[in-house]
Amino acid sequence: MGQTRAFPQDFVWGAATASYQIEGGRKERGEAIWDEFCRWPGKVLHGDTGDVADDHYHLYRDDVRLMARLGLDAYRFSISWPRILPEGAGQVNAKGLDFYDQLVDALLEAEITPYVTLYHWDLPSALQRLGGWAARDTVHRFVDYTAIVADRLGDRVQHWITHNEPWVVAFVGNWHGRHAPGWEDAGLALQIAHHLLVSHGLTLPVLREKSGPQAQLGITLNLNPAHPATDSPEDRAAAQRQDGFLNRWFLDPVFKGSYPADMAELYGYRMPRIAPGDMEIIARPIDFLGVNYYARAVVRHAEEVPLLQLASVKPEGEYTAMDWEVYPAALTELLLRLTRDYAPAALYITENGCAYEDSVSADGRVHDPQRTEYLRKHFVASQEAIAQGAPLKGYFAWSLMDNFEWALGYSKRFGITYVDYATQERIVKDSGLYYASVIAANAVEA
Ligand code: GCO
Repeated sequence: MGQTRAFPQDFVWGAATASYQIEGGRKERGEAIWDEFCRWPGKVLHGDTGDVADDHYHLYRDDVRLMARLGLDAYRFSISWPRILPEGAGQVNAKGLDFYDQLVDALLEAEITPYVTLYHWDLPSALQRLGGWAARDTVHRFVDYTAIVADRLGDRVQHWITHNEPWVVAFVGNWHGRHAPGWEDAGLALQIAHHLLVSHGLTLPVLREKSGPQAQLGITLNLNPAHPATDSPEDRAAAQRQDGFLNRWFLDPVFKGSYPADMAELYGYRMPRIAPGDMEIIARPIDFLGVNYYARAVVRHAEEVPLLQLASVKPEGEYTAMDWEVYPAALTELLLRLTRDYAPAALYITENGCAYEDSVSADGRVHDPQRTEYLRKHFVASQEAIAQGAPLKGYFAWSLMDNFEWALGYSKRFGITYVDYATQERIVKDSGLYYASVIAANAVEA
């Protein structure tokens, strides 16, 4: 402690959310695959749903005021596809478009820059019934949906993120079956990952056309440096596979126009069908890469695990309520590696944060020193990467407020703001106040 580390003048400080996790307003939109998944017994803890969530759909004006109080420069949120197109295609829900239109206006009025994610996992159920992302047609429906959104918001929104964490969508949703739609098939997941990437590339020119040449376009990937459990050649090779599975499988096509050869060999007959021209579409230039970073992965060789033959290990250390290791050094490592291997025009940390068991104290506040410390360490790690040459332009805390944590329902609180789900009261946690002070100073105490 004691040393002050300053951030660049124009560094963007923000917070992030996602539509299904905060909006509620279920009656005012079409059905999403997560609505169905929540009804599937045993899939979501306590049978929680996104029907009400943080009721942001009705309370967004208050939430923008909250952001202004924190001093945020930017807010990253996602658009609910079934709120725009309840059947996935065809009839537009005018009120849905109005909602985002008004949200954007409220943000701009508060001098908060909107960063809009087009897909944060809430596929319209109607499209799932036609095969979801496994069907190539969904790619074209995504482009149509994007055009409708950008047509309405493109005059004011300049920062667009096509997809959030395609790895999670494809593999957690369709191989591990722990997210919607709950399938368990590796080959299918690979085809889906490919379709997500193609849809990313196909929307880029649409967004440029509707948002103008100065628009900043990117994709957000969840990336973890993979560390071997030991120095053995087997564990090192396992870490290579983990890196290929999670990181390179998306980074290589986006930046180099090809899938990594080692992984393609491993996947063998499960490799997706790639249409002529697909890889060029996927590799169309982007203006920034969004990085979601929570923890590193530590893996060992595990013969018994099908296909990837690796397993996670849990080294001694500090862990959050998600059982994720607190390991800020890997964030610096990641940002520098991306800079070296992929030379992105710009990087943003589009998510970083932690869950802890927060509660309201007798003094009416939420004391979360562990989250403050987590944030502080990751700010320092970010600043260190900038000092070493990473083109990091901004940081978005996950999350602006507690919300629906997918299969874990409301049991995990990631917010810098506490939400009382019974009353919808918001209380800025101590970590939120700390974040506001870092934003105001544009510097962190190391
Ligand atoms: C993610 C998700 C968030 C999660 C967060 C914590 O992009 O992984 O955007 O929706 O809530 O990562 O698990």
